[in-house]
Amino acid sequence: MSWQDVYQSKLTTAKDAVSYIQSGNRVVIGHAVCEPQKLVEAMVNNKEQYENVEIVHMVAMGKGEYTNPEMAPHFRHNALFVGGSTRKAVSEARADYTPCFFTEIPRLFKEEYLPVDVALVQVSRPDEHGYCSFGLSVDYTKPAAECAKVVIAEVNDQMPRTMGDSFIHISEMDHIVETSYPIIELPPPRIGEIEKAIGENCAKLVEDGSTLQLGIGAIPDAVLLFLKDKKDLGIHSEMFSDGVVELVEAGVINNKKKTLHKGKMVVTFLMGTKRLYDFVDNNPSVELYPVDYVNNPCVIMQNENIISINSCIQVDLMGQVASESIGLKQFSGVGGQVDYIRGASMARKGKSIIAIPSTASKGKVSRIAPFIDEGSAVTTSRNDVNYVVTEYGIAQLRGKSLKERGRALINIAHPDFRPMLIEEWEKRFNCKFE
Ligand code: COA
Repeated sequence: MSWQDVYQSKLTTAKDAVSYIQSGNRVVIGHAVCEPQKLVEAMVNNKEQYENVEIVHMVAMGKGEYTNPEMAPHFRHNALFVGGSTRKAVSEARADYTPCFFTEIPRLFKEEYLPVDVALVQVSRPDEHGYCSFGLSVDYTKPAAECAKVVIAEVNDQMPRTMGDSFIHISEMDHIVETSYPIIELPPPRIGEIEKAIGENCAKLVEDGSTLQLGIGAIPDAVLLFLKDKKDLGIHSEMFSDGVVELVEAGVINNKKKTLHKGKMVVTFLMGTKRLYDFVDNNPSVELYPVDYVNNPCVIMQNENIISINSCIQVDLMGQVASESIGLKQFSGVGGQVDYIRGASMARKGKSIIAIPSTASKGKVSRIAPFIDEGSAVTTSRNDVNYVVTEYGIAQLRGKSLKERGRALINIAHPDFRPMLIEEWEKRFNCKFE
């Protein structure tokens, strides 16, 4: 039978496809903007047929209706990262959060810490050999499909075809639903004066020939604004967004000096606007691989001069970094932060940056605090931290004593909070702050 015949034999409707989900199953949903929206919608509509289906997901960019209170008998969400559509359910204990490094998620599936019954994924149209691309999310989505007992795929003709280890043959899918709708877009963030000042400070640490890892949001985008005069930059990152496209077009990012995957931008997922999605479609200079490769610190470290830039909620005077919770409230997740901080610290001439506005809650709270809030999780340990950057400057903490770290951090805190921090520092070290 030709692959085309196999493809035709697997075609079905979303309603029929989700009937293969059984009560008590663990269902893994394709990540971020690759959430298969028609399948998720059909699954939610079919809720009366299920009891206690576990929904495993990371950054959930869809509606997250399976977390609504009335869904409780049917679905239980297990979040590997908490986002806008799932935060309320996690904070009200109607959904769970499972701590894990992004790089280890495929292992949770493969080694059956979290055996996968059903993978719901979204892919591109098949090519002439019958291969579909996972498009904008290869990360844990491809590994989940490889481990699942049942693979249900939406073939969306608007999904870009990305390169790398990003393909699945139609023979590996059990049920196929054809769809056509625009991929979820992430609008560009608003970059204010504070973000610009942070971006400018971070850019001072980026040398020509560096390879970058950037997180998501206003600060990474602000950093990119100040890199226009740099030369020969490269990308090895969990993800990137629209800001990178501009620097590629300006010739600043050319990946020529990379020591791993020279000439290629390597990521595990992508999120941005249609401009980004058109840029990566069939583009051999951008390669996506599963996250257990891209975010593996032993792979990251092979990029000499790698510089990772991430953000946090709070850093204490010892340099402990809380990035995912505000007290007991799980706000987000560890994502790839520690993967990159570890990888960059092992790389030759690698650097890692935690970049933050000096305050939060409209200036009422200092992010640099004497102690991490009670109940908060430490995401990056004080042993791993390297640079902390605010709009007031740069604190380099590696190799510094507790006393020196405290001093360096106070010097980049918001001036309104420095007297309080100095008082705590003097109490702790029993000497005058100079
Ligand atoms: N005390 C109290 N509230 C705080 C706070 C603090 N120390 N720090 C932040 N907040 C509040 C903010 O005021 C804001 O609330 P608001 O929206 O009501 O104003 C909210 O928490 C979010 O803070 P903000 O800094 O605006 O969030 P962000 O969207 O820029 O994300 C992180 C910052 C740290 C949460 C995010 O980068 C993250 O999840 N990092 C960990 C994962 C990671 O690094 N992954 C790798 C790259 S993708």
